[in-house]
Amino acid sequence: MSETLIIDHSSSKEEKYQQIIPQIKALIESEEDMIANMANVSAVLKEAFDWLWVGFYITRNGELVLGPFQGPLACTRIQSGKGVCGTSMKDKRTVIVEDVDKFPGHIACSSLSRSEIVVPGVYMDEVKFVLDVDSSDLSTYGLSDKKYLGDIVALLIKKEYEQ
Ligand code: SME
Repeated sequence: MSETLIIDHSSSKEEKYQQIIPQIKALIESEEDMIANMANVSAVLKEAFDWLWVGFYITRNGELVLGPFQGPLACTRIQSGKGVCGTSMKDKRTVIVEDVDKFPGHIACSSLSRSEIVVPGVYMDEVKFVLDVDSSDLSTYGLSDKKYLGDIVALLIKKEYEQ
C-alpha cells in the first residue's frame, strides 16, 4: 500500500471525496488498529480539505474522550448531550452546524471555528466514536459531507466491529 495520498487539489469537494475514499478504504483494509486508522483518516481529510480541525472522540465509560486529530489543541472530554459532539452521541445522528454561535451549548475548542459537522460511528445501537470536523468559515458542511464522511465512518466501524 502506498503511503502517498493522491489528490488533485483543483478538484471540487465532491471530486476530492471520490478521490480519497478508495485510498482511505485501502488504508483501513491494510491495518487492524483503529487508532492508527483514525490517525490516518484525520491526516487524509486535513490534507484534502485543509479544514481547521479534523478528528475523533472515542466513547470511554459513557463519555467521549479525545482521539487522533489534526488541528489546534482540543478539549479532552465531552459528556453525552453536551456540545455538538455530545448531541451527536446522545441522538445517534449526524449533526450539521452552519453557525456555531447559533448552536446552544457549542463547545468552542478554537475561537476560529465557525461551522461544524459531527458524524457518529454506531454499532449495535451504541455510539463507539464520533468524527468531528470544524471549519473557520460559516456553512461549510451539508448533505454531501454527511454522506461521504458517513461512508468513511462506516468503513472504520466495519473494520473494527463487523469483521
Ligand atoms: N465543538 C465541539 C467540541 C470539539 S472541538 O470542536 C474539537 C462540540 O461542540 O462538541
